Amino acid sequence: MRIAVGSDHAGFDLKADLARHLAEAGHEVFDFGTDSAAVSVDYPIYGIAVARAVAEGRAERGVCVCGTGIGISISANKVRGVRAALVHDATGADLARRHGDANVICLGGRTTATAEAIDVVDTFVSTAFEGGRHARRVAEISEYESSDGVFEANGGRDATPSGPTVERSS
Ligand code: RB5
Repeated sequence: MRIAVGSDHAGFDLKADLARHLAEAGHEVFDFGTDSAAVSVDYPIYGIAVARAVAEGRAERGVCVCGTGIGISISANKVRGVRAALVHDATGADLARRHGDANVICLGGRTTATAEAIDVVDTFVSTAFEGGRHARRVAEISEYESSDGVFEANGGRDATPSGPTVERSS
């Protein structure tokens, strides 16, 4: 499988371990950087580069790492066609694939140990999307993404709140 990987400085060490592991497992790994833990860089550059590679078909999956995985997952999810899931264990990776058809997985170099992260990427690359009702939900995300802000999935209406659930006293 062609896999794009990228990280900021805080994710560099874990990204390097994961890239090595994936290459040793026989995958074709494209490393978008960064190249060092010593130089502070901005995670959106790397998250968006990985996401664009996946969205454009240059890679089949992406792996992103920053300190927490949060900033780089937010960044990757701005790229149309990308479903980036921030996960902390193999269960999350399994469900991200089976239910969410995630095409990018995001990890925190400061929050997830290497052994756990290796389980995450192994699960991520080997687990199929289940389809069925999950396909309808993923399609709703894609439809909204390409709609310029019109949400047709709920009969053209947003889900609406019934009102404040707790009345303020003043
Ligand atoms: C960098 O210090 C850190 O903010 C970044 O790696 C990430 O954790 C942001 O979400």
